[in-house]
Amino acid sequence: MALYLKAAEILDKVERKEGAVKTLVYDSKFQNIKQLFALVCEAQKYSAVLQDIITATKLLKHTRLKMNLAKVLVYDLLIGQGLKCGGSWKAMMMKHRSRLQSELARMKVRKKVSRNQDLLPPSSRQSEGSQLPRYVRVNTLKTTVEDAIDYLKREGFMYHGQAGRMEDLKTLCGKTFIRDLHLPELLVFPPKIDFHDHFLYQAGHIILQDKASCLPAYLLNPPVGAQVLDACAAPGNKTSHLAAIMRNKGKLLAFDLDAKRLATMSTLLLRAGVTCQQLANQDFLKVDPESAEYSGVEYVLLDPSCSGSGMVCLQDGSSEPLDAGRLQALAGFQLRCLNHALRFPKLRRLVYSTCSIHTQENEEVLSACLKENRRFRLVPLLPSWPERGLAPLPQCLRASPASTLTHGFFVAVLERRAEGEEEEEEEGPEMPSPNSPPISAEPQVTSDDEVQEPVAMETQPETPMAKRKRKNKRKRKNKAVS
Ligand SMILES: C[S@@+](CC[C@H](N)C(=O)[O-])C[C@H]1O[C@@H](n2cnc3c(N)ncnc32)[C@H](O)[C@@H]1O
Repeated sequence: MALYLKAAEILDKVERKEGAVKTLVYDSKFQNIKQLFALVCEAQKYSAVLQDIITATKLLKHTRLKMNLAKVLVYDLLIGQGLKCGGSWKAMMMKHRSRLQSELARMKVRKKVSRNQDLLPPSSRQSEGSQLPRYVRVNTLKTTVEDAIDYLKREGFMYHGQAGRMEDLKTLCGKTFIRDLHLPELLVFPPKIDFHDHFLYQAGHIILQDKASCLPAYLLNPPVGAQVLDACAAPGNKTSHLAAIMRNKGKLLAFDLDAKRLATMSTLLLRAGVTCQQLANQDFLKVDPESAEYSGVEYVLLDPSCSGSGMVCLQDGSSEPLDAGRLQALAGFQLRCLNHALRFPKLRRLVYSTCSIHTQENEEVLSACLKENRRFRLVPLLPSWPERGLAPLPQCLRASPASTLTHGFFVAVLERRAEGEEEEEEEGPEMPSPNSPPISAEPQVTSDDEVQEPVAMETQPETPMAKRKRKNKRKRKNKAVS
């Protein structure tokens, strides 16, 4: 019965928008996550069909079950591989089996179909990926956005100007396109348009790249002539984007462990007209940040291997969820890469990104890294971006098909603190816990007129770290006075 209770609980949470199915299943700590994941996905897919059957048979009234619990039980009884529970629950469901079966049969007759899957609405028969807009990044090393737009217009595409809001991206159809509202070099087309055989793509004037995956280079924004390191670079879409931002001037070091992917990357960069790169088939973790070779590196893009759980083609319910060990190993690797990247002595700014939806690979990696690297701080990103990093890291961005019409993605920017700021924050920033109350915005004036750092609400006891900070500050102040 635990399986059905857990599955119903996850469906409830999904309805309350408390997280994505994969994350909730994984976080549930249920013993057989594969089984739980499959059941939740299927019950969700057949949700409308199950609800109709349950309503028509008045099952909730007869059994006092809650809707989502009834859905997962009815799914396994009628559509899945049979109930996986015994005892009184099984007896209760078996009592209603023939009425439920008759209702399913009636439904098929009404809809003139013979298979269960034909009862699904057409939209859920297609993958979410095929519904996302088609994003095209104009490669400014080879052309300009204006020239690309003119070329497409001459080919019969209708240009509708720059998008003003997210909804504009949803309503595209036929041969229309718009310019994205967040990324200036990005053109947006209706789903399904295929540019792989198009001249602009073949000639490297446009790059077919999801909007979310354009964020890392855009947010790193290295200046022309900078020394930039792309730690896990292949197949190189973000590297070519960096080169375009740097206008091919400066040094772009790109590493990857996989020789085959690096070879593909070489071809891609050639087609894109990138010339400022130095590729190396190398383990980034074995690169020595202290070496003279890297003494000028000020910008790092770190897009390490991840679970890929944000890729919508992997979210169609057919793929298996990751086991806990694999996710932990990935998070460990990502944290090692991040800590390693922060060791470059001249580093000013770093972007960390994944195409994962798991907090373990995103916010948790960042929080652990910030605890170990007090000299870096998170940069608050794009205030108008609709999906933020989960608490306590709203400075970061998340992306998803539902909120940003992209694949699932996570991106954070770290910046080295200024010298003075470093001293003041010797003990590092305190990360508010997800449950801590809001921090008051203004400095507090206490009874002895001492101006303190903003503090948590009165009811919250002062943390040992905050107490130490306050005492140190008072000592410094007294020293200065005496
Ligand atoms: C998410 S992909 C990078 C995608 C790339 N940034 C892009 O935009 O095209 C991660 C890459 O990291 C590489 N990788 C994994 N471990 C590595 C390591 N220790 N050092 C360097 N590269 C590594 C993988 O071979 C893979 O190509």
